[in-house]
Amino acid sequence: MATISEQDLEAQLAELSTQERFAPPSEFREHALLSDPKVYEEANADWQGWWATQAASLRWFEPWQTVLDDTNPPFYKWFVGGKLNVSDNCLDRHVEAGNGARVAFHWRGEEGETRDVTYEDLLRDTQRMANGLKSLGIGKGDVVGIYLPMIPEVAVAMLACARIGAVHNVVFGGFSAESVRERMEFSEARALITVDGAARKGRVAPVKANVDAVMSDLASLEHIIVVRSKGTECEMRDGRDIWYHDLVVDADTECPPEPMDAEDPLFVLYTSGSTAKPKGILHTTGGYLTGAATTHRYVFDLKPESDVYWCSADVGWITGHSYIIYGPLANGATSIMYEGAPDYPHKGIWWEIAAHYKATIFYTAPTAIRACMKWGAEHVLAHDLSSLRLLGTVGEPINPKAWLWYHKVVGSERCPIVDTWWQTETGAMMITPLPGITETKPGSATQPFPGISAKVVDERTGEPIENGQGLLVLDRPWPSMLRTLYRDDDRFVETYWKQYGPRTYLVGDAARVDKDGYFWVIGRIDDVVNVSGHRLSTAEVESAIVAHESVSEAAVIGQHDEDTGQAICAFVTLQGSTEGTEALIEGIRNTVAERIGKFARPKRIIWADDLPKTRSGKIMRRLLRDIAEGRALGDVTTLRDPTVMAALQDKIAAERADDEG
Ligand code: WTA
Repeated sequence: MATISEQDLEAQLAELSTQERFAPPSEFREHALLSDPKVYEEANADWQGWWATQAASLRWFEPWQTVLDDTNPPFYKWFVGGKLNVSDNCLDRHVEAGNGARVAFHWRGEEGETRDVTYEDLLRDTQRMANGLKSLGIGKGDVVGIYLPMIPEVAVAMLACARIGAVHNVVFGGFSAESVRERMEFSEARALITVDGAARKGRVAPVKANVDAVMSDLASLEHIIVVRSKGTECEMRDGRDIWYHDLVVDADTECPPEPMDAEDPLFVLYTSGSTAKPKGILHTTGGYLTGAATTHRYVFDLKPESDVYWCSADVGWITGHSYIIYGPLANGATSIMYEGAPDYPHKGIWWEIAAHYKATIFYTAPTAIRACMKWGAEHVLAHDLSSLRLLGTVGEPINPKAWLWYHKVVGSERCPIVDTWWQTETGAMMITPLPGITETKPGSATQPFPGISAKVVDERTGEPIENGQGLLVLDRPWPSMLRTLYRDDDRFVETYWKQYGPRTYLVGDAARVDKDGYFWVIGRIDDVVNVSGHRLSTAEVESAIVAHESVSEAAVIGQHDEDTGQAICAFVTLQGSTEGTEALIEGIRNTVAERIGKFARPKRIIWADDLPKTRSGKIMRRLLRDIAEGRALGDVTTLRDPTVMAALQDKIAAERADDEG
C-alpha cells in the first residue's frame, strides 16, 4: 500500500489549502443520482410538491389528503390522513421486491466477531420481537426505552417498536445508568430493552447490573428485556426481567405492521438544551421517514445494489437513528455496523474494516477525523480504500485542515466530501452539499438541501443578512421537523418559535453566509456545549458537579479544544476550604460520569472562591469564557462584586505560569 512521509503530506496539504473550491469529480458527477442544479429551483418553486414526490416513493397503506397543514403554526402536520408503517417500509417492501437475501448489516464486534444480517433476517427477528413486546402488553403509544450497544438487536428493537406503534426512546450507551433512569422516568417508559454487558476496548461493562443499581424504584417501568450479548453475569428480577431469547423463542414469526397515521409518534430522543432537564424531541412517522430516506438517498448518492455504506456514529444519537437505521433501511442499503472503538485493537481498525467490506460511502464526525490525523496517515494508508467513493461529516464545524486531510488521506482526492449540518430537532440533514452538483469549500456545509429554506438573520431585528454573520434560522417547515417536546408544548414554543414567530425556527447556532450564498456554521449560541460532536448542556453538567458533597457551586463553559472541538471547563466553589486536591478533582469527575456519562467529565477544573454574578444572582458565563480563553474581559459593570473577576484572573495567570514553568 501507499505510504507518505509526514513532510510530503504537510506539503501536499498546504498546496491543497490554496484551492478555494472543490468541484465534484466528473466521474462521480456522470453517475450521480442528482447532477443537474435545476433540482434546487424546481424544489423551491413548489416545495410542498417536491416533498410529496419524495414521500410517494415510500409505501403507504392509505394516501394522505393534505401535504402540509400549517393552520396552527408551529404545530405543523405533514401528509395528513396518510397511513403507513416504518418497519414495513424498511423491511417488508424490500423482501417482497425479492431483495430479502441482501445484507442489511455487516456486523463486526470488537474482538473480530462477525455476523451478516440480511433483510429477511431482520424482518423475521423484528416480527418475533414485535410479538414478544405485544405478549408483555406493550402496544401503540407505549414508550419503550432502548439502552443497547451497537449490535444488530438494536435495529430489531427499534423496528419492532415501529411495527406495533410503540414509541422508542433510545439512550446512547455512553450515558450512565442514572441518565437512563431519568429518561425512562420523564417519558414514563413501560419497558426497557438492554443488554447483559457491552464491549469497551477489551473489557466488558456490566450494563444490566448498572441499570439494576438505579432502576429498582421506578414504578412505571414494568419490564426489562435483556439481550444476552457478552455472557456477563446478571441478576434477573422475577416478574420484571426477561431474557430477549426467552421472550422471542415461541413468538410467532408473523406480526402484521400496524397501520400508523403519518402524524403518529415514531420516537422520542432526549437531547440537551439550555437547562439541566434534557428535551424529549418528538418525531412522527410519515414526515420523519420521508426526510431521513430522501436525504440519505441523495446526499449519499445511494445505489442500494452496489454500495456498502458505513456511518460510524452510535445509534443512540440522532445520526444513528436517521443514518444507521431509518434512512439506510428505507432505501434498502447494505451497511457496516461496528461495535467498538476506532483505536481498538489498533488505530487502523476502521480502515481495516472498510477495506474488508469494500465500503463505498463513509460518514463520521470531525472529531474522529482529527483523532485519526493525530494517530498518523500510515494507519489509513496501510489499507486498500480504493472502494470508497464518497465521504461525509456531521456533528460540528470541520476545520479546513481536517477536511483537507480527510480528502487527501482517506479519499485520495477522489471522493467528494459532504459536510452535513443538521440537528436532533431537524431529524434529517438541512444544509449539505449534493455530491454530484455542489462545489464544496472546506469548512462550509454549503447550501440548504432542495426544499429547505435557511437564512442567517440579524439577532435583534430578525432581518436576513445577505453576506455576513448572524443567527441561523429555517423559515419554511420541512417533513422531518420535530413536532414538539415530549409532553411539553410550552417549552417547544418557547425554545424554538418565540424569538421570530411561529413560522421561523430558531436553530440555536450562529452562522455566516458568504457572497456565494454558502453557509458557515460557527457554533451554538445557547448554553449547549459540543464535545466530540456530543451535545451537552452546561446546566446539566453543573447540576451533576454540585451533586458532589464537597461542592457548593459550579459554572460550566465550553472551551475551544483542538481534539474534541469543545471541552468542558468547570469553575467550582467548594464548601469551606477554598483549594481542591487532585483527589477531589477525580471525585468530581467521577460524579459527573455517574450522573451523565464519562464523555461529560470536565477536562479542566478551576477552583473559584466566588463566581461572577449579576445583581440578580445570575452567573455570567460570558465572562468566564473570556477568562478561560485568555481574552480581554467584556463589560463587568453589571457584576454584584467586580473583585471576583480579578481574583479569578490571578488564578488563571498562576495556572498558566505553572504550566509553562
Ligand atoms: C452542530 C447532530 C457545524 C450544530 C446531527 C448543531 C454542526 C448541533 C454540524 C446539533 C455541521 C451539527 N457543521 N455544526 N456539519 N452538524 N452541528 O442535535 O451546533 O446532536 O446545532 O445533532 O451540532 O447536534 P445534534
